[in-house]
Order: sequence, then structure tokens, then C-alpha cells
Amino acid sequence: MTNKPPKADTLILAIESSCDETAAAVLRGRVNRKQPDFKILSSVIHSQIPLHRKYGGVVPEMAARAHVEHILPVIEKALADAKTKLADLSYIAVTGGPGLIPSLIVGVEFAKTLSYTTGIPLLRINHMEGHLYSAFADTKAKLTFPVISLVVSGGHTMLVYLKDYEHYKVIGATVDDAAGEAFDKVAKLMKLPYPGGPEISKLAEQVETTEIKFPRPMLNQKNFDFSFSGLKTAVVYYIKETYGEKPLSVKQKREVAKAFQDAVVDVLVQKTMRAAEKYNAETMALSGGVAANRKLRADLEHAATANKMRFTMPEFWLCTDNAAMIAIAAYFYLRAGKKPSPFQKVKADSSWEL
Ligand code: KG4
Ligand code: ZN
Repeated sequence: MTNKPPKADTLILAIESSCDETAAAVLRGRVNRKQPDFKILSSVIHSQIPLHRKYGGVVPEMAARAHVEHILPVIEKALADAKTKLADLSYIAVTGGPGLIPSLIVGVEFAKTLSYTTGIPLLRINHMEGHLYSAFADTKAKLTFPVISLVVSGGHTMLVYLKDYEHYKVIGATVDDAAGEAFDKVAKLMKLPYPGGPEISKLAEQVETTEIKFPRPMLNQKNFDFSFSGLKTAVVYYIKETYGEKPLSVKQKREVAKAFQDAVVDVLVQKTMRAAEKYNAETMALSGGVAANRKLRADLEHAATANKMRFTMPEFWLCTDNAAMIAIAAYFYLRAGKKPSPFQKVKADSSWEL
């Protein structure tokens, strides 16, 4: 007796290595259903944060080397945790971009080799599509379309309009720094450890209010684009003019962190609400690494529900990089009727846009 799933089930192994997490996950689902029908059977993440922390950011060549070291054990564990084996898989999905090219290449070449040697078809998945679809991880949620989705990661800030699960378009994006990038840069300025986003939010949560007020960039413009580089510069000048060369006390750091976080969240929430109104959204979604920010989660959910919209976002563990979201995006890729790619044609693309 084998424990092969029934024929209608699709079993996907997903591999993610676009930045500094080596990750693999297994999803079992049925693609021919109106309501999404899938389950994440396993999700394994090997984080390289301790490796890069002493450099204050990701060192691409070191990241690639660490991916090479960890990719096989991570995949083996994902298969074991899902109580499945290679021979049972219907598809292998891999992040093809965007991301750091040395990191992406490790996952892509590994997945290609696996596909070639086993004959299992290969799906090339966009990392940002992974974040986008992670907001639909809860298959019990009753969502109605159209959906306006705010996708905020370390490299991207995007507003996406979804007509249904299969059809979407990007209606706004960052013209310079992404929200997560701004969090990381401001954290670095205050000599906080990498990654800075969680450090800033931890400090910001330790004060109720602050007198400091930073600008709300792009809020007066009618488009749905974002810009956070000016806000970062405002923080640089504020610190220089107020404290000079002196290191900031913890109290001062808390206040700057709070004022900065308030400005970012305010812009994100207001612009997303505006997009939702313009596109008559019935559901609002939030995802990406910055979606792990508690204030953003609370404020956007409040704004959506106060305006009689449904709201959906991934659990904390699904916000920052992982392979489960790549498996979910692969599930929706198949639902949309898209086909696998011949392994020879699958390439890593560091700037692959949605
Ligand atoms: O999606 P992600 O894991 O990687 C990319 O695809 O870029 O996002 C990482 C980003 C980092 O910039 C990190 O500082 C930020 O998400 N982040 C946060 C929080 N947790 C992670 N930003 C603000 N508040 C947080 N709690
Ligand atoms: Zn990401």
C-alpha cells in the first residue's frame, strides 16, 4: 500500500531562496473547485539572519553559499513533515524572481535538476505573487471581489486590484524605497540590528504618543504610487538637527521609531482606502513582510471594516519570506489554467515584475 493521495489531489513542493531564507513547503489541494481548497502540509524555513546581522544587511554571496548548504536538508524535512516523498509530487514550484540573483540561482537550479531527474513538472513562480496570494491562505474565508490588496515587503510596495482569484493588475507601486526598505534604513540610522522593521515596531510600541511629526509622502497625489525615500531623509535631518552627533537614548529612539512608523502606516492605510473606494472593493487584503507590523495590521483592518469591507491577511509566520506562500501562488497559478515550463526555459530573474 502506498499513501499516494487520491487522483483529484494536487501535491506541490515549493522552493524559495530569493533572499536570506532557505525555504520549502508542501501543499495539497484541489484546483477544480470554486472555493479555494488546499492545505499546507509542511513549511520549513532556514533563516540566515544571524549570519548577516553582523554586516547590517544581506551579503549576497554569503547568502547563496548558505542556500547551497541548507537547501537539501530543508527540502527533505518539508517532505518528511508532510509525510510524503518525491514520487508522490504533482509539481515542483520555485521562486524565479524578483530577488538577489546569487540567491535565486541556487533555488532555481536545484528545482530544475530535481524536475529533470524525476520528470516532475516545474512551475516558475513570482515571489511577489507569493506574497499576494498568501493573503488567501485561509480557505474557509468567504471573500468577495473585487479585492484591493496592499503588498508590502522589503523590496516592494504595491497596490493590486483583483477582479477575481485569477485576474489582477498592479495599480500602484513605490517610485523609490519600499516600505520595508525604509524601515530597515531608519533602523540602521539608529544603530538597531538587522532586520530593522521588527526592531522599529518593538520600540514604537513602547510609547503611546510623540510630539515628533514626519511628512506623509505622496498623500496629496491622486495616483496610487508610494515614495518613502523622502521620509527617510526627513528622519536623517531630524536626528542630525535635534541630537547632533550624540547617540540617541532609548527614549529618543522610541519616539523617532513611533513617529516614523505612524507616518508609514498612515500613508499606506490612506492610499489603500482611496484605492478601495475608487475600485469599489468589497474586500481589502494585506500581505508581505511589513504586514507583520502590528500597527499596520490593526489600522488597515479597522479602516476596512469601518467602511463595511471584508478584510484578510496572513498569519504572522506567512508574512515574511517562506515557501508556503510560493506553494499557494502555484495553486492559484494552476487554477488559472497556466502550464508548467520546460525546465530548460526556467531562469532566475532578479527584477521580474508582476
Ligand atoms: O517580504 P519580506 O520577508 O522580504 C522581501 O520580500 O523583501 O519582507 C522583509 C521586510 C524587511 O524590510 C523587514 O524589516 C520588514 O519586512 N518587516 C517589518 C516587520 N517585520 C518585518 N517591518 C515593519 N514591522 C515589522 N514588524
Ligand atoms: Zn518577500
